[in-house]
Amino acid sequence: MKETNAVVTGGAGFIGSLLVDRLLADGKSVVVIDDLSTGNLSNLERAREQGGNNFKFESLDVRSAVTTELIADLKPEAVFHLAAQVDLRHSVDDPLLDAEINILGTLRVLEGARRCATKKVVVAASGGTLYGDQEHTHLPFKESLEPKPQSPYGISKATTMSYLSAYQELYGLDGTALALANVYGPRQDPHGEAGVVAIFAGQLLEKTESTIFGTGEQTRDFVYVQDVVEAFIKASEVEKMDFCNIGTGIETSVNELYETMASLLNNASEPNYLPSRSGEIERSALDPTYAQSSLGWVSTTSLSDGLSKTIEWFKEN
Ligand SMILES: NC(=O)c1ccc[n+]([C@@H]2O[C@H](COP(=O)([O-])OP(=O)(O)OC[C@H]3O[C@@H](n4cnc5c(N)ncnc54)[C@H](O)[C@@H]3O)[C@@H](O)[C@H]2O)c1
Repeated sequence: MKETNAVVTGGAGFIGSLLVDRLLADGKSVVVIDDLSTGNLSNLERAREQGGNNFKFESLDVRSAVTTELIADLKPEAVFHLAAQVDLRHSVDDPLLDAEINILGTLRVLEGARRCATKKVVVAASGGTLYGDQEHTHLPFKESLEPKPQSPYGISKATTMSYLSAYQELYGLDGTALALANVYGPRQDPHGEAGVVAIFAGQLLEKTESTIFGTGEQTRDFVYVQDVVEAFIKASEVEKMDFCNIGTGIETSVNELYETMASLLNNASEPNYLPSRSGEIERSALDPTYAQSSLGWVSTTSLSDGLSKTIEWFKEN
């Protein structure tokens, strides 16, 4: 393998693997670090086929000291850190594990990047949990709002952002965090943050009943995964930009999402409603204005186009 251009942690996951495909398509050499806890080697089949000598997979836990050593030895130009405990509800059940992976794991990665003076670190943060419940007049949420994470997951992801800023101040490590909205698309696992799209896709295709918690009027900002991959690429190319939202700015209710997906699949079945789950925020959408001015990024895929592509992928897989 030639010199490493990029390390992608969490590269066997949903967003990470599509980022890996893109980097390889751009002619970069990529090393993936992933412990396969929620990711899957099948997500890396294209990378193996197309990447050849430019692609390498390391089965490794980001919490391990070996992660720091490996990144320091590889001296990549850019580190994309996406490995995380991604399940919000699991973080409520086991906040220690969440903190170990999301905070200590991030420190292992940042230490590796610092030791080899990587040019750029881009970290996946969570815009969906960073702002928490705000006055609805603040929608869509801007980066200037005071963060109010309400779950251990939200807190660990927000802490990651603080460390990134501190590493910039202390060691001059150039890091950018992307506060992602609810990402959906091909390869999505039902357990992730925007898992609802994958869950509905599975249920509607198998013609089993879907469950909506609460009234279904709760809103989220759904952003298509290829647009998010583009944001990671753009973030790796800018200098000294702390963090920005990556979302569409558009609120979509869970009911609207269900109806759009059901109509794309010509499925007329009604969902089943259960009481809402505690800890879920009412409304969320992320203002993308700063992403446009700082990264030159906008989401270009409409929800219906993105959902059509996602459904096609679920049909084939
Ligand atoms: N999907 C979303 O809507 C969304 C929204 C906001 C932020 N994010 C963030 O984006 C990143 C990617 O999320 P995703 O949706 O692709 O989830 P994912 O579960 O598909 O990807 C996470 C990857 O990290 C790996 N991983 C987990 N723990 C690890 C560890 N200890 N060591 C090494 N690898 C480990 C998993 O095996 C998996 O491949 C995460 O940091 C997540 O917090 C996702």
